[in-house]
Amino acid sequence: MVRAGVEAGYECAPNIALVKYWGVRDEALGLPFNGSLSVTLDRLRTRTWVRFDPALPSDQFVLNGAPQSGNPLRSVSEFLDNVRAIARVETPAFVRSENNFQTASGLASSASGFAALAGAASRAAGLELPPPALSRLARLGSGSACRSLFGGFVEWRAGTRADGRDCFARPLFPPSHWPSLVDLVAIIADAPTKPVRSAVAMQRTVVTSPEYARRLREVPRRIRAMKRAIAGRDAPTLFALTIAECDSFRLVCETTDPPLDYLVPASRAVLAEIRAVNADAGSAIAGYTHDAGAHVHVFTTRRHANAVRRRIRAVAGVEKVLALSPGSGGRPLGGRSR
Ligand code: PMV
Repeated sequence: MVRAGVEAGYECAPNIALVKYWGVRDEALGLPFNGSLSVTLDRLRTRTWVRFDPALPSDQFVLNGAPQSGNPLRSVSEFLDNVRAIARVETPAFVRSENNFQTASGLASSASGFAALAGAASRAAGLELPPPALSRLARLGSGSACRSLFGGFVEWRAGTRADGRDCFARPLFPPSHWPSLVDLVAIIADAPTKPVRSAVAMQRTVVTSPEYARRLREVPRRIRAMKRAIAGRDAPTLFALTIAECDSFRLVCETTDPPLDYLVPASRAVLAEIRAVNADAGSAIAGYTHDAGAHVHVFTTRRHANAVRRRIRAVAGVEKVLALSPGSGGRPLGGRSR
């Protein structure tokens, strides 16, 4: 039952995919063609509170203190419709959300945002969803959000069912499994905002990229190899696979018609610098990846972090480098009663 007037909160972190989700077999349900694998990050957080209130004329959404309208409000409202359908209510909701990092900066605020919204809205609606159901719900907001509910290393299996019941994320290893793993995020100055939403862009790739079918054949093998590398804390293997997967993702984007190019010259310079770092070391001591944005995530281990960080920092156009680690999963927050 909806707990009218009771505010429920939830907190989630962004995740970065080591194996990318890109392309859906069912757009309405957000069912991907391939599985994906990610690391949930520490330090960055979205906190969201939801209150269902029959006195409201319609849904309201306040992000970082600013009332939202247009697309941001619409996507929150459409997401809440899923929660209302499960809870069998029609009550409008008041949603407030805060990111401790720049929204829409290419740091996966939609993943942490919809994961936190799924947690907060389901609690405010009086639903006690078990983790797979909560992950399926978050998936409806943004695919990658289904992974941000869990900490550490997370796998999202594509599933095979038409109704998506077997399509949800689950934790593989907790953050403590590999605490010396570091994600150096190269924040690119003046990174452009996404011209096309990922959900739309990825379907263009499915339809037009001649490389997409080959990528789909490669991904299951890459996921199995990555899981083995993570289980054995085999850094060089993981970093080499991370680079190969990122290059495969970028190739299907670049061969999309019209091409999808998320990088700027400074991002490409970081990729080149990491290839040079590995060539100098004689083995893969670092691995790069990027999402549908210009910033670059460089994985390395604590032993090499300072040296790799200096190399990234020296690349023209890199504004700063964040040093992140595997972080914890979502958690409920206290709310306010009215
Ligand atoms: O979750 P969405 O719809 O924003 O798409 C995310 C797509 C990538 O970030 C490029 C890959 C991924 O698996 O996170």
